[in-house]
Amino acid sequence: MDDLKYMSGFGSEFKSEDPRCPQSLPKGQNSPQKCPYGLYAEQLSGTAFTAPRLENRRSWFYRIRPSIGHDPFKPFSNSNVRCNWDQQEPDPNQMRWMPFDLPKSNEKRDFVEGLNTICGSGEIKGKNGLAIHVYVCNVSMNNRAFYNADGDFLIVPQKGTLKVTTEFGKLQVRPNEIVVIQQGMRFSIDIDEPSRGYILEVFGRHFCLPDLGPIGANGLANARDFLTPVAWYEDRDVQYEIIGKYQGKLFVCNQDHSPFDVVAWFGNYVPYKYDLANFMVINSVTFDHCDPSIFTLLTCQSEMKGTAIADFVIFPPRWSVQEHTFRPPYYHRNCMSEFMGLIFGNYEAKAEGFQPGGATLHSTMTPHGPDAQCFEMAFNEELKPKRVAEGTMAFMFETCMELAVTEWGAKTCQKLDLEYYKCWKNIKKHFTGPAH
Ligand SMILES: [Fe+2]
Repeated sequence: MDDLKYMSGFGSEFKSEDPRCPQSLPKGQNSPQKCPYGLYAEQLSGTAFTAPRLENRRSWFYRIRPSIGHDPFKPFSNSNVRCNWDQQEPDPNQMRWMPFDLPKSNEKRDFVEGLNTICGSGEIKGKNGLAIHVYVCNVSMNNRAFYNADGDFLIVPQKGTLKVTTEFGKLQVRPNEIVVIQQGMRFSIDIDEPSRGYILEVFGRHFCLPDLGPIGANGLANARDFLTPVAWYEDRDVQYEIIGKYQGKLFVCNQDHSPFDVVAWFGNYVPYKYDLANFMVINSVTFDHCDPSIFTLLTCQSEMKGTAIADFVIFPPRWSVQEHTFRPPYYHRNCMSEFMGLIFGNYEAKAEGFQPGGATLHSTMTPHGPDAQCFEMAFNEELKPKRVAEGTMAFMFETCMELAVTEWGAKTCQKLDLEYYKCWKNIKKHFTGPAH
């Protein structure tokens, strides 16, 4: 069972003590000369000290030892993480990947070793951009923790439950849930079966809930449905590896104890999870349909008003009721880039080929839309209220940036489907010509 607390909103202040050590949070002071139980105080800053109050994010840890006290970092070579966007020539074509391979049974890969970068954009050192990764793993992280110095991870499990231990406590995240682990937070992932999922990383910025405008105070993802862990610690003196992602590359250092030694914490910079089944879907009840932005769950905004470095958008099961309307997603050319994945089921705009654990990328101004078979069905169907996406959860990472595919995404993974364009080849002409 998860031991979790509801968040009342982003930016809310939380506090948590491991119940084995009551009164472990200092009273009335962040950093007393002597903390309760002989703990050390350490602050984790998620925004500049001087960020406006509403956006300011930080947490205080009360831990057995401070995080300093480790051997030097060295490069960690067993990784396909590459935040280098010049590995391949630009390619504007529609792309589709078949499901990414799980590790072979004779090849042991944990979550960190199983990280592979598919595509990305922007500049890590300037903290402006994003990366999209897939993880495929078949063993738990053993005395090994990970943190990302470059930005936040929004993790979308597609196969297998992730048992995530963080400095803040534990979270279990199963397919159809997501977890956001923000910049700098240390975590370790245990699994029970070969596991796969997608990761949206944003550099140096944080996700927030989209504004709702005329929708009002309720709807889409409600703040109260986000869960954050309660404090949990272990006091284990063992050789432990800390792996950090820094400037797009992985580094490893050793220390002589578990980093999950936080007995109590407070603050508003916390990891959180969300069950996609809690998303309140809004759409047209007359005719036409809203732009897919109506399905935005979390957003990470750029400096340009209303324009996202990355939106996380989901397409849950829902009713479709519009009259005299072509109901599937419209044909489209977009100034944004659209990366889609499928957790389970069948996406309504694709008859076949887009499979759970696979992906598509429709790049800036490259046309996309329903395939020929899907168009003909929607063109000819009798319009009655009906359920769509039953048993399905597709999602989209949408960005204002132009995405570059890595060598792993284009070649190494060997999953790129070169026949993808053919699903639109049979789109028929329905033009009746001018009236005589
Ligand atoms: Fe689109």
